[in-house]
Amino acid sequence: MLQQFNEKNKNLKVYIDGKLYHRDEAKVSVFDSVVQGGDAVWEGIRVYNGRIFCLDKHLQRLQDSAHAMAFTQIPSNDEIKKAIFKTLEANNMRDGVHMRLTLTRGKKITSGMDPRLNQYGPTLIVLAEWKPPVYPPSITLVTSNIRRNSPSTIDSKIHHNNLINNILAKIEANYAKADAALMLDLYGYVSEANGTNIFMVRNGQVLTPHADSCLPGITRATIIRLCMDNNIPILEKNISLTEMYTADEVFVSGTMGELTAVSAIDGRKIVNKSTKSVLTEINKLFTALTKTEGEPLPF
Ligand SMILES: Cc1ncc(COP(=O)(O)O)c(C=O)c1O
Repeated sequence: MLQQFNEKNKNLKVYIDGKLYHRDEAKVSVFDSVVQGGDAVWEGIRVYNGRIFCLDKHLQRLQDSAHAMAFTQIPSNDEIKKAIFKTLEANNMRDGVHMRLTLTRGKKITSGMDPRLNQYGPTLIVLAEWKPPVYPPSITLVTSNIRRNSPSTIDSKIHHNNLINNILAKIEANYAKADAALMLDLYGYVSEANGTNIFMVRNGQVLTPHADSCLPGITRATIIRLCMDNNIPILEKNISLTEMYTADEVFVSGTMGELTAVSAIDGRKIVNKSTKSVLTEINKLFTALTKTEGEPLPF
């Protein structure tokens, strides 16, 4: 499940701090905090049919992450929206687009860890690519030896660019020839996959881990809301690996790949003992929502 280069993305225009650059010229300073310490926050956002899906929720999470990291001179949501619209318009993008929005702590006056060295304000990057959902119809998972960060180390409520925790897990999955890594929390309960949230279905009930160590994903929140609104029983709880192995259905969720079925975990096939698929039902509801909900593009 390795993403490939898309020729359509050859001449992308990328927004950095008010200006658009050809992708080959889109660069940040070697003194930028994201280079120096992964000191940045980000959002992955999708554009469907002339609308930016869940834009306000993504901007709220970005603002919260930046505030928790004590960034200064954080751009307002209106300023960020203008940057997004400018980028999408310059690339003539209205559908089938994935955007990576990054806000770094900005440039430093000299190399070093101390945020007081950041005296220029943050750097805003909008990278929009032609990218339909990236996952195949189903994926396999392998449990990683790397535990997902807990609030006692790096709080997953901050959507930061320090992705090494997840990247180490993904490396394990690559060596194990699985599509993604399943990460446990410090207590051994299932937390999430390396880049997506996780759900299981048993006897018609949907279960998902508490958002203690996993990212509180926006797709995850959307699924919980859809279940509640459509009388599909849903519960957040501690989930063990054995519960996952023996579930009727397991699926992962995220902006990049939407909802994707998991066919096996650690070699154990996920076998649906029921005659119906709750995932299919939720998927239909989710797809319908992407057609109607979101911030309309002004161009
Ligand atoms: C570790 C991790 N979990 C889950 C997700 C899915 O979150 P969302 O649904 O907000 O895209 C992401 C996306 O960035 C992620 O990095």
